[in-house]
Amino acid sequence: MDGSSLRTLFSEEKIQKRIREMGTQIDADYPGGTLHLVCILKGACFFMADLARSIERDVVVDFMGISSYGRGKTTSGAVKLTKDLDTAIEGADVLLVEDIVDTGVTITYLVNVLEQRKPKSIRIATLLDKPSRRLRPVKVAYVGFEIPDEFVVGYGLDYAERYRNLRDVCVLQGPQVA
Ligand code: IMP
Repeated sequence: MDGSSLRTLFSEEKIQKRIREMGTQIDADYPGGTLHLVCILKGACFFMADLARSIERDVVVDFMGISSYGRGKTTSGAVKLTKDLDTAIEGADVLLVEDIVDTGVTITYLVNVLEQRKPKSIRIATLLDKPSRRLRPVKVAYVGFEIPDEFVVGYGLDYAERYRNLRDVCVLQGPQVA
Protein backbone atom coordinates (compact mmCIF):
# COMPACT_ATOMS: atom_id res chain seq x y z
CA MET A 1 0.00 0.00 0.00
CA ASP A 2 1.60 3.27 -1.12
CA GLY A 3 -1.46 5.52 -1.20
CA SER A 4 -1.83 5.49 -4.97
CA SER A 5 -5.05 4.55 -6.73
CA LEU A 6 -6.12 3.44 -10.18
CA ARG A 7 -9.17 4.60 -12.09
CA THR A 8 -10.09 2.71 -15.26
CA LEU A 9 -10.07 4.95 -18.30
CA PHE A 10 -10.40 2.32 -21.05
CA SER A 11 -11.48 -1.24 -20.37
CA GLU A 12 -9.90 -4.25 -22.02
CA GLU A 13 -13.03 -4.69 -24.19
CA LYS A 14 -12.94 -1.10 -25.36
CA ILE A 15 -9.22 -1.28 -26.16
CA GLN A 16 -9.56 -4.51 -28.12
CA LYS A 17 -12.54 -3.22 -30.10
CA ARG A 18 -10.69 -0.04 -31.02
CA ILE A 19 -7.57 -1.95 -32.08
CA ARG A 20 -9.64 -4.14 -34.41
CA GLU A 21 -11.02 -0.97 -36.00
CA MET A 22 -7.50 0.42 -36.38
CA GLY A 23 -6.33 -2.80 -38.06
CA THR A 24 -9.21 -2.65 -40.54
CA GLN A 25 -8.39 0.98 -41.30
CA ILE A 26 -4.70 0.22 -41.80
CA ASP A 27 -5.49 -2.67 -44.17
CA ALA A 28 -7.74 -0.38 -46.18
CA ASP A 29 -5.21 2.48 -46.36
CA TYR A 30 -2.19 0.64 -47.73
CA PRO A 31 -2.40 -0.38 -51.37
CA GLY A 32 -0.72 -3.76 -50.86
CA GLY A 33 2.50 -5.49 -49.98
CA THR A 34 4.17 -6.09 -46.66
CA LEU A 35 3.87 -3.62 -43.81
CA HIS A 36 6.91 -3.15 -41.60
CA LEU A 37 5.76 -2.67 -38.01
CA VAL A 38 8.31 -1.02 -35.71
CA CYS A 39 7.45 -1.36 -32.04
CA ILE A 40 8.90 1.18 -29.63
CA LEU A 41 10.00 -0.69 -26.53
CA LYS A 42 8.92 -1.34 -23.96
CA GLY A 43 5.49 0.19 -23.59
CA ALA A 44 4.15 -0.51 -27.08
CA CYS A 45 4.77 -4.27 -27.15
CA PHE A 46 1.28 -5.20 -25.90
CA PHE A 47 -0.38 -2.87 -28.40
CA MET A 48 1.88 -4.09 -31.19
CA ALA A 49 0.98 -7.73 -30.50
CA ASP A 50 -2.75 -7.02 -30.75
CA LEU A 51 -2.49 -4.55 -33.63
CA ALA A 52 -0.36 -6.95 -35.71
CA ARG A 53 -3.06 -9.62 -35.34
CA SER A 54 -5.75 -7.15 -36.38
CA ILE A 55 -3.98 -6.52 -39.69
CA GLU A 56 -4.61 -9.10 -42.39
CA ARG A 57 -1.83 -8.31 -44.85
CA ASP A 58 1.73 -9.61 -44.39
CA VAL A 59 3.64 -7.80 -41.68
CA VAL A 60 7.24 -7.78 -40.53
CA VAL A 61 7.70 -6.97 -36.85
CA ASP A 62 10.80 -5.31 -35.50
CA PHE A 63 11.73 -3.45 -32.34
CA MET A 64 13.48 -0.25 -31.35
CA GLY A 65 14.58 0.54 -27.81
CA ILE A 66 14.83 4.06 -26.49
CA SER A 67 15.65 5.50 -23.12
CA SER A 68 12.41 6.19 -21.26
CA TYR A 69 11.17 8.29 -18.39
CA GLY A 70 13.06 6.10 -15.92
CA ARG A 71 11.45 6.13 -12.52
CA GLY A 72 9.71 9.47 -12.80
CA LYS A 73 6.85 11.03 -14.64
CA THR A 74 8.50 13.78 -16.61
CA THR A 75 10.83 13.43 -19.55
CA SER A 76 14.33 14.87 -19.63
CA GLY A 77 13.76 15.73 -23.28
CA ALA A 78 16.81 13.71 -24.29
CA VAL A 79 16.19 10.53 -26.28
CA LYS A 80 18.76 7.76 -26.55
CA LEU A 81 18.64 4.70 -28.78
CA THR A 82 19.22 1.57 -26.71
CA LYS A 83 18.30 -1.03 -29.35
CA ASP A 84 18.29 -0.66 -33.11
CA LEU A 85 16.22 -2.53 -35.71
CA ASP A 86 17.32 -5.99 -36.83
CA THR A 87 15.99 -5.50 -40.35
CA ALA A 88 16.59 -2.98 -43.15
CA ILE A 89 13.71 -0.65 -43.97
CA GLU A 90 14.90 0.84 -47.26
CA GLY A 91 11.93 0.92 -49.64
CA ALA A 92 9.54 -0.41 -46.97
CA ASP A 93 6.20 0.89 -45.76
CA VAL A 94 7.00 1.50 -42.10
CA LEU A 95 4.41 1.87 -39.37
CA LEU A 96 5.88 3.09 -36.08
CA VAL A 97 3.86 1.63 -33.22
CA GLU A 98 3.82 3.70 -30.01
CA ASP A 99 1.93 3.34 -26.76
CA ILE A 100 1.44 7.06 -26.22
CA VAL A 101 2.46 10.29 -27.90
CA ASP A 102 2.90 12.94 -25.24
CA THR A 103 5.27 15.85 -25.95
CA GLY A 104 6.16 14.28 -29.31
CA VAL A 105 9.90 14.49 -28.60
CA THR A 106 10.47 10.71 -28.74
CA ILE A 107 8.54 10.03 -31.92
CA THR A 108 10.06 13.03 -33.72
CA TYR A 109 13.53 11.74 -32.91
CA LEU A 110 12.67 8.23 -34.16
CA VAL A 111 11.08 9.44 -37.37
CA ASN A 112 14.23 11.47 -38.10
CA VAL A 113 16.45 8.45 -37.47
CA LEU A 114 14.35 6.15 -39.66
CA GLU A 115 13.86 8.63 -42.51
CA GLN A 116 17.60 8.58 -43.12
CA ARG A 117 17.26 4.89 -44.07
CA LYS A 118 15.02 5.77 -47.02
CA PRO A 119 11.81 3.84 -46.35
CA LYS A 120 9.04 4.17 -48.95
CA SER A 121 6.75 5.64 -46.28
CA ILE A 122 6.63 6.20 -42.53
CA ARG A 123 3.44 6.57 -40.54
CA ILE A 124 2.71 6.54 -36.83
CA ALA A 125 0.14 4.45 -34.98
CA THR A 126 -0.38 5.18 -31.30
CA LEU A 127 -2.83 3.71 -28.84
CA LEU A 128 -3.06 6.95 -26.87
CA ASP A 129 -2.50 10.58 -27.74
CA LYS A 130 -2.15 13.53 -25.35
CA PRO A 131 -2.27 16.40 -27.88
CA SER A 132 -2.46 19.09 -25.19
CA ARG A 133 1.12 18.30 -24.11
CA ARG A 134 2.74 18.59 -27.53
CA LEU A 135 6.13 20.34 -27.81
CA ARG A 136 6.80 19.14 -31.38
CA PRO A 137 4.26 19.05 -34.20
CA VAL A 138 3.63 15.39 -35.00
CA LYS A 139 1.40 13.93 -37.68
CA VAL A 140 -0.13 10.79 -36.19
CA ALA A 141 -1.93 8.70 -38.82
CA TYR A 142 -3.69 6.29 -36.44
CA VAL A 143 -4.81 7.18 -32.91
CA GLY A 144 -6.64 4.75 -30.64
CA PHE A 145 -7.87 7.29 -28.12
CA GLU A 146 -7.16 10.94 -27.37
CA ILE A 147 -6.75 11.55 -23.64
CA PRO A 148 -6.45 14.62 -21.43
CA ASP A 149 -3.27 15.52 -19.54
CA GLU A 150 -3.36 12.68 -17.02
CA PHE A 151 -0.78 10.05 -16.19
CA VAL A 152 -1.94 6.64 -17.34
CA VAL A 153 -0.68 3.12 -16.77
CA GLY A 154 -1.58 -0.39 -17.90
CA TYR A 155 -1.67 -2.26 -21.20
CA GLY A 156 2.09 -1.74 -21.53
CA LEU A 157 2.33 1.69 -19.93
CA ASP A 158 4.29 1.89 -16.70
CA TYR A 159 5.14 4.03 -13.76
CA ALA A 160 8.67 3.10 -12.62
CA GLU A 161 8.28 -0.24 -14.49
CA ARG A 162 5.06 -1.10 -12.63
CA TYR A 163 1.54 -1.71 -13.95
CA ARG A 164 2.46 -2.79 -17.48
CA ASN A 165 0.47 -6.02 -17.14
CA LEU A 166 -2.87 -4.41 -16.32
CA ARG A 167 -5.44 -5.31 -18.99
CA ASP A 168 -7.14 -1.90 -18.78
CA VAL A 169 -5.64 1.57 -19.24
CA CYS A 170 -6.00 3.38 -15.92
CA VAL A 171 -5.30 6.84 -14.55
CA LEU A 172 -2.74 6.63 -11.76
CA GLN A 173 -3.42 8.99 -8.90
CA GLY A 174 -1.78 9.42 -5.55
CA PRO A 175 1.06 11.04 -3.65
CA GLN A 176 3.83 9.39 -5.67
CA VAL A 177 2.59 10.86 -8.96
CA ALA A 178 1.62 14.30 -7.74
P1 IMP B 1 7.05 11.96 -25.46
O1 IMP B 1 8.43 11.94 -26.01
O2 IMP B 1 6.86 13.04 -24.44
O3 IMP B 1 5.98 12.00 -26.54
O4 IMP B 1 6.89 10.67 -24.60
C1 IMP B 1 6.54 9.44 -25.07
C2 IMP B 1 6.85 8.40 -24.03
O5 IMP B 1 6.67 8.89 -22.69
C3 IMP B 1 5.91 7.23 -24.14
O6 IMP B 1 6.40 6.25 -25.03
C4 IMP B 1 5.84 6.72 -22.72
O7 IMP B 1 6.88 5.82 -22.48
C5 IMP B 1 6.06 7.95 -21.86
N1 IMP B 1 4.78 8.51 -21.34
C6 IMP B 1 4.20 9.68 -21.69
N2 IMP B 1 3.03 9.86 -21.03
C7 IMP B 1 2.88 8.77 -20.25
C8 IMP B 1 1.83 8.34 -19.34
O8 IMP B 1 0.80 9.00 -19.11
N3 IMP B 1 2.05 7.14 -18.74
C9 IMP B 1 3.14 6.36 -18.96
N4 IMP B 1 4.12 6.72 -19.80
C10 IMP B 1 3.99 7.91 -20.45
